[in-house]
Amino acid sequence: MKRYSVAVLPGDGIGPEIMHEAMKVLKAVGKKAGVEFAATEALVGGSSIDAHGVPLTDEVLKLTLSSDAVMLGAVGGTKWEGLDYSIRPERALLALRKELGLFANVRPARIYKDLIDASTLKPEVIDGVDLVVIRELTGGLYFGTPKGVEKLPDGTERGVNTMVYTTPEIERIAKVGFEVARKRRKKLCSVDKANVLETTELWRKVVIKIGQDYPDVELSHMYVDNCAMQLVRNPKQFDVIVTENTFGDILSDEASMLTGSIGMLPSASLGATKNRAMYEPIHGSAPDIAGKGIANPIATILSVAMMLKYSFDMEDASVAIEAAVEKVLNKGYRTADIYQPGTKKASCSEMGEAVLKEL
Ligand code: IPM
Ligand code: MG
Repeated sequence: MKRYSVAVLPGDGIGPEIMHEAMKVLKAVGKKAGVEFAATEALVGGSSIDAHGVPLTDEVLKLTLSSDAVMLGAVGGTKWEGLDYSIRPERALLALRKELGLFANVRPARIYKDLIDASTLKPEVIDGVDLVVIRELTGGLYFGTPKGVEKLPDGTERGVNTMVYTTPEIERIAKVGFEVARKRRKKLCSVDKANVLETTELWRKVVIKIGQDYPDVELSHMYVDNCAMQLVRNPKQFDVIVTENTFGDILSDEASMLTGSIGMLPSASLGATKNRAMYEPIHGSAPDIAGKGIANPIATILSVAMMLKYSFDMEDASVAIEAAVEKVLNKGYRTADIYQPGTKKASCSEMGEAVLKEL
């Protein structure tokens, strides 16, 4: 029997609830496919701060480094907001990305026919949207130095973050963008701010150079402000978007809203080798609804589907999960975030069970 090890980090807020449902789905898929998923649970983020004083212990980092893949729920919450930046829950996420070398963040956004009315945008604008944001994840503003806040002689302060990219960093993320586009509709839009920021002028130059190896992929460029506008004006024009860390953070949240709920979108963060991968919903820990059993587990369940596809080459099982989610939506099951009069209100666990039943 094939055996894969998965580090499972539920995290904070709604993290544990949604992960519980996702793990049920993973188990069921394993049983069906004759694959053993050995899941090891561990604390991360605020829950780790409470237990150990730090958001990510060496032990948990080691666990993730020795696992075939990592599943993460969500980190953070109001409880830990006053802490120093260096030990905030979010640091765990950033450290995992850096230590595992997860430079490519794949965030698909597609519209489910049954949820078209859940979006704040007009049906004719979003019907048929199917795009992927590829976000660079270990460079740019998030990690560049110098960074920090310093006191000035006159008593005021000066805050600094630096957007840095090197040629190899741009090359490898551009390649991911082209490879993903090649397997889809063969359109890649590189998003930058090359009219103002030198870093992204380099970004554009390098992407064009890598593009010479992908003549079958149609490459275009867009400034980030224009892209933010085009995403709500005419999102159907996009197939694959590749962009730097901060731009990708913002644009992927925006893209998620096309679909009606951020509770629907999974993501994969991939490194240079197959055993470096982390899967997580793109939404946060939602402390306001934590423990109420009303969170939407679909993004996490779809993250399991991404793990099966990218880490374990289990394409059929991955597609089966996606199809099950679609069926459940079609049957009218809705968690509170996507609920509309006339549909069946489901709790977090009822949604998980409904997906299981369709598998
Ligand atoms: C995301 C989140 C994180 C980020 C936060 C929680 C650090 O917003 O994954 O998009 O900014 O990358
Ligand atoms: Mg974000």
